[in-house]
Amino acid sequence: MAGSSALRAANDIQQPNDLDSWWLPFTANKSFKTNPRMVSRAKDMYYYTPEGKPVIDGTSGLWCCNAGHNRDEIVSAIQTQAQELDFAPGFQYGHPLAFTAASRIAQLAPADLDHVFFCNSGSEAADTALKIALAYWNVKGQGQKTRLIGRERGYHGVGFGGITVGGIVNNRKFFGSLLAGADHLPHTYNREHQAYSKGEPEWGAHLADDLERIVALHDASTIAAVIVEPMAGSTGALPPPKGYLKRLREICDKHDILLVFDEVITGFGRLGYAFAAERYGVVPDMITFAKAVNSGTVPMGGVICRKHIYDAFMSGPDNVVELFHGYTYSGHPLACAATIATLDIYQRENLFERTRAIEARWADAMMSLKGLPNVVDIRTLGLVGAVDLAPNEHGPGKRGYAAIEKGFHDYGLMLRTAMDTIAVAPPLIAEDKHIDEIIDKLGRLIRDVA
Ligand SMILES: Cc1ncc(COP(=O)(O)O)c(C=O)c1O
Repeated sequence: MAGSSALRAANDIQQPNDLDSWWLPFTANKSFKTNPRMVSRAKDMYYYTPEGKPVIDGTSGLWCCNAGHNRDEIVSAIQTQAQELDFAPGFQYGHPLAFTAASRIAQLAPADLDHVFFCNSGSEAADTALKIALAYWNVKGQGQKTRLIGRERGYHGVGFGGITVGGIVNNRKFFGSLLAGADHLPHTYNREHQAYSKGEPEWGAHLADDLERIVALHDASTIAAVIVEPMAGSTGALPPPKGYLKRLREICDKHDILLVFDEVITGFGRLGYAFAAERYGVVPDMITFAKAVNSGTVPMGGVICRKHIYDAFMSGPDNVVELFHGYTYSGHPLACAATIATLDIYQRENLFERTRAIEARWADAMMSLKGLPNVVDIRTLGLVGAVDLAPNEHGPGKRGYAAIEKGFHDYGLMLRTAMDTIAVAPPLIAEDKHIDEIIDKLGRLIRDVA
């Protein structure tokens, strides 16, 4: 039993032996390590520090834990699966749960978005979608269609494809020349025209027309795909202007360009629907997903493809690999088991419909922060809210960072920030009392960092 006691000992460790070895991702490591924001347990709407202090989860972890934390059914599905089938190769072999998980996801997607390619993260999902787009035109005999069009302020993860089409300067400028031939649509945020919008702003649909300019510059015969987040999440939650996504679809159709929705944040209920594609009545050619597919419990991502994409690859000889792409952990049994259990919870608890039902109350609660010191805009969409704060005298991002630190240590509140924008996106199980707690703490915090 030495093995199981060693396992127990590993799980029981509440304090790390040192803070040196782990180089934290997207984190100011030096600052973190002088005053760590550490969590060691979670249940439903709360994290708990190693000392046992509750921290309300204002961000669903990292836009992941839509069903709330450590839900019993998901935990037990993962445990059972670990005992039954720990790993199965996805190259040339299959296992039943991956097929079930894929069809459950496909059932949630609109129209003929019927085929699911699994990977392990949103970054891999974005790069997979871009590779499928390039290969699609290749197998269709139009291999000259290679340009990839993203958008300013877009985030598609950290792979080379994702940062190429992404539009966040710090994620790009350190990493060389990226992929050749990409271009970018303008972002859709304009404070003058959109400030304090609840939901989709009225102004901005015309920004989709910039795709016509890009087509005129490069010619559609060179463009493979356009990729956008329906709601740009990582640069501060920018809802799409009314009609914008439909317009993008029309222009892509007109010029025979694939349209990819990166739904890594918007998928699985964040905007009140399984996918934003459904909310907006727009059918993209591919949808990328990750995070909330299994409420963040086991790494999992993927790309949902329309029938015509999948079919284009299926015309060669029977025993030849159709797409030279995949990951060792594509369709990992634990991730699939967690996915099926999570989708069951979403369905049984009507969490997507519930999000639609509380969207207006959430928007009102967020807008109650208007008028607090340094608040210059507030946006809401689904169960997402963002507050833009004016930078303080120490420079851009400093006030936002102070909010993260104080939020955690002084108020027991977990937040996301993008520079001086605070983003909140609680688990979809949030009740009125949780929304009140988040808004109350956020309000006091905003006063504190004034
Ligand atoms: C829209 C979008 N795409 C891709 C990613 C990357 O996902 P991951 O961090 O799982 O690689 C994210 C992460 O936040 C995202 O918001």
